[in-house]
Amino acid sequence: MFGHNQNYAPIPEEEQNIHAENITSRSLNWWKKRKGLTTYSLSLGFSVALNVFLIGLLYILHRQTESRRTSSFPHLLYSPAQDAVHYELKTFESSFNYTSPYTGYPDSEINGRWKQLYRVGNSRISKSEAAQLPNKTIAATAGSDDYLVVISVFHDLHCLDRIRQSLWYFYDDQWNATYNPFTVERPETYKPRGLNGIIHLDHCINIIRQSIQCFSDVTPYVFQWSPTAQAVHAYANVIHTCRNFEAVREWALDRTFTGSWDGVDHRDEQGHCRSGDSVDCLVN
Ligand SMILES: *[C@@H]1O[C@H](CO)[C@@H](O)[C@H](O)[C@H]1NC(C)=O
Ligand SMILES: *[C@@H]1O[C@H](CO)[C@@H](O)[C@H](O)[C@H]1NC(C)=O
Ligand SMILES: *[C@@H]1O[C@H](CO)[C@@H](O)[C@H](O)[C@H]1NC(C)=O
Repeated sequence: MFGHNQNYAPIPEEEQNIHAENITSRSLNWWKKRKGLTTYSLSLGFSVALNVFLIGLLYILHRQTESRRTSSFPHLLYSPAQDAVHYELKTFESSFNYTSPYTGYPDSEINGRWKQLYRVGNSRISKSEAAQLPNKTIAATAGSDDYLVVISVFHDLHCLDRIRQSLWYFYDDQWNATYNPFTVERPETYKPRGLNGIIHLDHCINIIRQSIQCFSDVTPYVFQWSPTAQAVHAYANVIHTCRNFEAVREWALDRTFTGSWDGVDHRDEQGHCRSGDSVDCLVN
């Protein structure tokens, strides 16, 4: 499964040009041989030849984009949310000075907007969906047909929100070790050096690091002359190819697991690999 798949190598450009030239010279020869024909049949013939040529060209271009698309993702793994993935163009905001709805002092309004992004709960998937997962997951309760997952993007956003709140904690005089963005929400779980303090934040930073590297956005930022600053500036408010976040969020909202579960009993597990397995488990 993880071997490089040669089938998806794009057709070399030279080969395509040769192909296109052959079609052109063949149609021209065919046209020359029939010099004696009437103008009508000539133009009819030429039109047929042109159409065949254009359809051929379209087919080649289609094959080319098709193979390019698949060769970009040679190791695509199954996700139960894969059908919710749609691509769109999006211009990033690159705001300074709190002009975005997601920046600024963490009051209940801004905090609420952040929470909206990731408060979708655990997602419920079917047994047959769970069976296709690269990593195993459990049934929600013994004997149930609901299997539980959390989709990465929501965990990552929750993590980023924790980091955001903690930064304001360090900046804002009103907060201290016992009264801060963490303790206000769930005071019972907070210890500065405990699981809900710096250890959690450190975990979050490391997850977001891997997520950013995993995605490796290659969108170029640009340099432009700024008339107001009378200098050349770098601009981050450029157009990106994005997955439509709303579609993924809606998928998760439709699948929110509302039942209760605890983690103490042994239940059915579906999927391929257990924690600690080597990736070989995917081919078995
Ligand atoms: C930020 O915005 C405020 C209000 O619009 C403005 O008064 C202030 O000058 C801005 N600060 C900077 C550094 O641009
Ligand atoms: C922390 O701030 C809260 C709220 O202002 C205050 O009631 C509390 O006494 C402070 N605790 C410490 C240790 O300063
Ligand atoms: C997921 O699968 C990989 C590859 O086998 C493995 O290294 C990792 O530990 C697994 N994680 C879990 C939680 O199953």
